[in-house]
Amino acid sequence: MIRATRLLVVLALSSALLAGCSKSGVESVQNGYRGTGMATLYDKDRVAAQYAASQLPAVSPAAPGEGPTAGQIYQNVKVLDDLSAAEFARVMLSITEWVVPKDAPPEQAACNYCHSANLADDSKYQKVVARKMLQMTRDINSKWQTHVASTGVTCYTCHRGNAVPAYAWFKDPGPGHQSGIIATRAGQNTPSLAAGLTSLPYDPFTPFLLNDEPIRVEGKSIGGDANRSSIKQAEWTYSLMVHMSESLGVNCAYCHNTRAWSDWSQSTPQRVTAWHGIRMARELNNQYMVPLTETFPANRLGVTGDVAKVNCSTCHQGVYKPMFGASLAKDYPELRGRKATPAATPPVAAVP
Ligand code: HEC
Ligand code: HEC
Ligand code: HEC
Ligand code: HEC
Repeated sequence: MIRATRLLVVLALSSALLAGCSKSGVESVQNGYRGTGMATLYDKDRVAAQYAASQLPAVSPAAPGEGPTAGQIYQNVKVLDDLSAAEFARVMLSITEWVVPKDAPPEQAACNYCHSANLADDSKYQKVVARKMLQMTRDINSKWQTHVASTGVTCYTCHRGNAVPAYAWFKDPGPGHQSGIIATRAGQNTPSLAAGLTSLPYDPFTPFLLNDEPIRVEGKSIGGDANRSSIKQAEWTYSLMVHMSESLGVNCAYCHNTRAWSDWSQSTPQRVTAWHGIRMARELNNQYMVPLTETFPANRLGVTGDVAKVNCSTCHQGVYKPMFGASLAKDYPELRGRKATPAATPPVAAVP
């Protein structure tokens, strides 16, 4: 026992000494087989700052699930109707803490952010949006475990104490340009934050996170029809890949062996998670965000009149797992999906 502890101390010391070798503050972590050169680079200062900013709010005490349901007690409850009164109250208090700005004026403060004097009334758009968000959060946690695993999400994953999450996207029509033969720039040559300040296409989201355009660009053989994708198409794919890397704070080798981008057998398990993430973001946008377009006031829409939408940054905010994998969702069964209805007692087999 003592020897094991001493060994740990020696290991800790030697890794501390080795870490000291990297003067630049950039740490390299191997994440592929030895010899493949697959390593992820982390800027230690950036990670320390992100970690400090990723502290979770306190968890409120669990609420008893017995008694009449919110659907029975209240007048206008459409999503959380399966919860007990205590669970329902816990959710209302928690969403107030996670989403409503602390410095809101009195008519917008706390419950008033979503509610007018009559709590059953749906006149504030914020309440109608919040109802859709409750449904979306439950669906992410119950239907998208291929991506969020049991870590899951709560409103806090995206909102972090703000009414409007720090990262969302609108369609970007790009700067105006002259008409004529050079008019179509395919969204290029305008450094954009979306594409990591490259001059790759500046809106990689509409084709891939709203529409279902093909992302794959590499053919399996040469000649004939094998490689039908143009350089232009490949640039859209690269633009999405730069966004994915930036939003996770990783480089391409976190998912790919760069000698064979398309080959799944040489990719990391994270690439599979990312594949599901692309489909999840697309579904969140089409099923939840787009249908809210008419609900938001016009001044909250984008320049083309579209609603704010989700991309990888909305949850990840620069980190490989949102909040470094810390989870509030495990403490909020109310947001993990509808409560399982108790199985009906099986009919007693008729005795012949
Ligand atoms: C971020 C928006 C939001 C905030 C903040 C909020 N609520 Fe709600 N509230 C809702 C939504 C959405 C519903 C409807 C839920 C559903 O349909 O499942 C609701 C429904 C209710 C109802 C049921 C009313 C009825 O008869 O239909 C009560 C009671 C309630 N909220 C109380 C509160 C209290 C108390 C607070 C402050 C601690 C609060 N809410 C804060 C969004 C919010
Ligand atoms: C996957 C990320 C995500 C999650 C999870 C999420 N939201 Fe949102 N929410 C958004 C986005 C994106 C918007 C639109 C932002 C904009 O208008 O620019 C939004 C907008 C809102 C608004 C409107 C704010 C305003 O003032 O216009 C409310 C209210 C809201 N969310 C409540 C919630 C609640 C409550 C939960 C948890 C039950 C939740 N959200 C979970 C992404 C999320
Ligand atoms: C978080 C994981 C992840 C990161 C980081 C990542 N990719 Fe990808 N990449 C994927 C996934 C998933 C696909 C397949 C997408 C699909 O088919 O829906 C893909 C597909 C591709 C393709 C198309 C391969 C084919 O089949 O034709 C190329 C090229 C590519 N990535 C390049 C890059 C580059 C360059 C970077 C760094 C700037 C990068 N990727 C970073 C996950 C990642
Ligand atoms: C709704 C929130 C949400 C969105 C949107 C989202 N993710 Fe995630 N992602 C998560 C959560 C939560 C986890 C942690 C799951 C776990 O603990 O294994 C995760 C994990 C991952 C991982 C695994 C990291 C690892 O080291 O194991 C990858 C890769 C990833 N996400 C890529 C993406 C990409 C790429 C996108 C955009 C196309 C995206 N995510 C969009 C919530 C989200």
